[in-house]
Amino acid sequence: MAVENIKKVKLGHYPTPLEKMENMTKLLGKGELFIKRDDSTGPAFGGNKTRKLEYLMQEALDTGCTAVMTIGGTQTNHGRTTVGAAVKLGLKPILVLMGEDTGYLSGNLNLDAMMGADIYFVSNPAKLMEVMKDVTAKYEEQGDKVYNIPGGGSNPLGAVGYIMSVKEIMQQMEEQQLKIDHVVCTVGSMGTYGGMLLGAKYFNAPFDVIAVPVAPEPKDKKVADVVAFVNEVSKTYDMGVEITAEDVKIAWGPEDAPYSGEAYNKPDPVTREAIITLAKNEGIMLDPTYTGKAFRGFMELVEQGELIKDGESAMFVHTGGAMALWTKEHLDDMQGQLRANCSTTQI
Ligand SMILES: Cc1ncc(COP(=O)(O)O)c(C=O)c1O
Repeated sequence: MAVENIKKVKLGHYPTPLEKMENMTKLLGKGELFIKRDDSTGPAFGGNKTRKLEYLMQEALDTGCTAVMTIGGTQTNHGRTTVGAAVKLGLKPILVLMGEDTGYLSGNLNLDAMMGADIYFVSNPAKLMEVMKDVTAKYEEQGDKVYNIPGGGSNPLGAVGYIMSVKEIMQQMEEQQLKIDHVVCTVGSMGTYGGMLLGAKYFNAPFDVIAVPVAPEPKDKKVADVVAFVNEVSKTYDMGVEITAEDVKIAWGPEDAPYSGEAYNKPDPVTREAIITLAKNEGIMLDPTYTGKAFRGFMELVEQGELIKDGESAMFVHTGGAMALWTKEHLDDMQGQLRANCSTTQI
């Protein structure tokens, strides 16, 4: 079936806004800068997972599932959006999370709990597969049929959401008479970047798509993984696109201070500075794990003249996740920078 005709359930609000960042454009002084607000897709605050979940949840419904299980870290945005989508569709939400139950539910866990998710914390990552099997068996014994969604919703079906987002962007560009030459997003489990890269080739988009990694990884391996993922998705849906390593554009940042920071989900002051810059100029909140890192990359590429050449413009894809700002560890780590960024007066 042609990728355009794959059935999906409606979960989000589309098109998500495509807006000019007037103040960031002035601040950086190079080209015109836009933002695609995929942080406001809904449900449960949404983010990039909603586009993927529309296709995955359709399959869950079509196959008669009554429960949905997915995996991630304890603060997974994907998990929170999956829970929101499941409750909206009347399915039982099950999260299998790698990490400890600290006894305090903050950030995404606060929201997962509010929506009534069944949450299983797994201390030993080596036991993950076993736990998933046992949890599935437990629900199936009770008469449920469990739909299993991979981490990040990043399989070929989930990626269709981001393939199709390219069409939405091209339509908005036409309606708003915009010229966008470069699009920057994060790359984690690859569904977003892989989907957009494939969508850009398939729909002949007038822009290229550049990714910023969210964790330090061997460069050649990441590029090879993206190539393999994109070509697998293309083959699955008979899209006739085949990419090579030359098509994959990943901005790693300086060797001594990469955009990914030291580690996945490790708060660092440089990433937080990027978050604060967008917050104080546009009133838009990024997250410390994904979009803060990617936006730092976006700003530096613009400032250094690497992204935008004469007369060009660029768009940042905001993929959501800002609720991670309210996890205890991020709040604790941010206090100094917050105090320095505002004025407080006790009267
Ligand atoms: C807010 C946010 N942005 C970006 C990503 C990365 O997207 P992908 O996993 O599709 O590469 C994630 C993944 O969880 C996310 O939560």
